[in-house]
Amino acid sequence: VVDIRKLYGQSGKFTYDPGFTSTASCQSAITYIDGGEGVLLHRGYPIDQLAEHSTFMEVAYLLLHGDLPKKNELDKFSKTITYHTMVHEQLVHFFRGFRRDAHPMSVMCGVVGALSAFYHDSTDITDPTQRLIASHRLIAKMPTIAAMAHKYSLGQPFLYPQNDLSYTGNFLRMTFGVPAEPYEVNPVIERAMDRIFILHADHEQNASTSTVRLAGSSGANPFACIAAGIACLWGPAHGGANEAALNMLREIGDVKNIKTYVERAKDKNDPFRLMGFGHRVYKNYDPRAKVMQQTAEEVLKELNLTDPVLDVARELEHIALNDDYFVEKKLYPNVDFYSGIILNAIGFPTEMFTALFALARTTGWVAQWNEMISDPEQKIGRPRQLYVGATQRDYVPMDER
Ligand code: ACO
Repeated sequence: VVDIRKLYGQSGKFTYDPGFTSTASCQSAITYIDGGEGVLLHRGYPIDQLAEHSTFMEVAYLLLHGDLPKKNELDKFSKTITYHTMVHEQLVHFFRGFRRDAHPMSVMCGVVGALSAFYHDSTDITDPTQRLIASHRLIAKMPTIAAMAHKYSLGQPFLYPQNDLSYTGNFLRMTFGVPAEPYEVNPVIERAMDRIFILHADHEQNASTSTVRLAGSSGANPFACIAAGIACLWGPAHGGANEAALNMLREIGDVKNIKTYVERAKDKNDPFRLMGFGHRVYKNYDPRAKVMQQTAEEVLKELNLTDPVLDVARELEHIALNDDYFVEKKLYPNVDFYSGIILNAIGFPTEMFTALFALARTTGWVAQWNEMISDPEQKIGRPRQLYVGATQRDYVPMDER
């Protein structure tokens, strides 16, 4: 706690908490994490149970509405989402303005932010009906936009949504299908992808979710807020870590090289960190990483692939978890450690990994955004600062400096 009177003669006290490691910015009833025990609950339901028994649509409904849907509620919700999967035809032109080699996250930031220019009937945040329509639109259009970003980078034509497919099946077809050719959705891959979406759906007040809330606290429209979340998620310490983790595992290349990288990660003079290891909140095994590892094994088996990178990952995990440095600092594999291996096996280029994370996290973002707007105690977010700059001084003319 800083007494600012002592510093600058102003009144009051505030806490100086870089990175907000011990400041609750809001009340929330959506997600609970016990980082010490490795527990993650959405609306009270453990993540491993949701990953095993539910679908991403069910989890999206749960996050948004607070309870698991009854069958008729889920059918209605899924139908509504399906209804909104198409994007405005003008957006196709917007896409064409990007360079083909643009990172999908830069395209997604721009395109999602631009949705507010197309859907004027869902930007009045004081109207709960408009808020719900905006939420449905965002959840529904993210797979279409992510798939379009992928197709655009390949120079291939866009595929329109095919609404008799599931949310995830539709996304796989729009990403990997070719126009005028039938696309068979592999149920094992569809299930694995759906599970990856479930595992990334929400994670309480992480950096991107806090960004969405902060942007939304000013009354900004939901599309702009989600675009802000996408921008924040892009960073390698957050959503970009899955891309970085796979690149690192590829760079290690062989089990015999692991020790060198582990030593580098422990060296204070080397900025290298084991990507996919450590977490601000989990000081135990990230429960999502366990499901992710199992999914990686299932997908490789289904596709009849052997990936030496999976051997490197397993061995790296084993070595790190038995090393005093990682044990003392409570550094465990996080959700990103194994996800890249699965996405790579399914056929996604590494640049798409964070875009997939953004697609899934959109459900959490819109749930958190709605919760914030509905909270009567909600205020514009306005952190304080500890000023450490110059005291007042007089302007010096250019020729006297
Ligand atoms: N490899 C080696 N050392 C590490 C690692 C790592 N991956 N992560 C943390 N440490 C060390 C730090 O050097 C620090 O050591 P010190 O106390 O001797 O200075 C200590 O552990 C604590 O690290 P902090 O950075 O202070 O911990 P913080 O909670 O701020 O960081 C973070 C969490 C950013 C996730 C960090 O662990 C990291 O950079 N991991 C690699 C990137 C990554 O996987 N990110 C994905 C996070 S999950 C997600 O966003 C979905």
